[in-house]
Amino acid sequence: MESNAITLDSLLNKVYQDGRQDFREYKRGTVVRRLERRLQSTGAKTYLDYMQFMDAHPEEYQRLSDYLTIQVSSFFRSTYAFQQVASLVLPELVSYKKDQRQPRLRFWSTACARGEEPHSIAILLAQFLGHRLSDFNTSIYATDISRHALDDAQAGLYPPKDVEALPPIILDNYFTRQSEGYAVNSNIRQMVNFSYFDLVSTTAPPFTSLDCVFCCNIPIYLQKQLQERVLEMLYNSLAIPGYLILGETETLTSSLCEKLECIDTKAKIYKKNGRGDNV
Ligand SMILES: C[S@@+](CC[C@H](N)C(=O)[O-])C[C@H]1O[C@@H](n2cnc3c(N)ncnc32)[C@H](O)[C@@H]1O
Repeated sequence: MESNAITLDSLLNKVYQDGRQDFREYKRGTVVRRLERRLQSTGAKTYLDYMQFMDAHPEEYQRLSDYLTIQVSSFFRSTYAFQQVASLVLPELVSYKKDQRQPRLRFWSTACARGEEPHSIAILLAQFLGHRLSDFNTSIYATDISRHALDDAQAGLYPPKDVEALPPIILDNYFTRQSEGYAVNSNIRQMVNFSYFDLVSTTAPPFTSLDCVFCCNIPIYLQKQLQERVLEMLYNSLAIPGYLILGETETLTSSLCEKLECIDTKAKIYKKNGRGDNV
């Protein structure tokens, strides 16, 4: 068992050094389960065999990364959370921006998979602001480490099964039926900027002064210390006031509990109001 763990460490170190992706502090259970499947597919019997396979097939690093990360998502994945963002976050945020004469709205979807989450945010904003949308300079940054997922996200074209659960009013207003599926309308797509960013690669946020950061269904895959580092980085990316939204099954790390105000326990919406910065 011990030597297996050591070999797994060596394998993850190799992926970090040669493949430039760091899964060393992802939860080991998920990593081991997913790795087993990859070993089987490549015919490797041991981690050592697999490391040799990687040397002979460098494209395996990207494939492994796609195996270890799970790109499952959906539009308005947590209906309740999106409803609560619309009723608790947006009214306050928009009225604050108006009072401050600051017509900028900056959102970040930190693990955007194939774009379902940032496109849902864009639709939510378009619905909420209506004709006032053009009064705001709106940016939705959307990042991920899966280059395949980012390519799909950028294309903004989804198979019918991905949109069948959406209310017809959303489908009719924000998507266009094409022969290959449903395309997100260009006015919505233009609100989203996709790029590659690895959440575990640095403690410096790539964006700052953000009004709202979504970090959903990614912390659950990370070990506690890494969760803490990532969430602290996201905290630093927020403006004051700024909102952090986690996935339904995720919890805030204890250090951030003191710094963020919980706005909705079930929807996992937290507000930075600056109170924790002197703690
Ligand atoms: C289960 S999906 C969640 C998608 C979306 N946030 C949602 O809640 O539906 C997890 C996403 O996290 C991405 N991911 C995993 N590790 C990452 C990292 N270190 N940096 C950025 N994205 C990462 C995966 O590629 C995948 O697209």
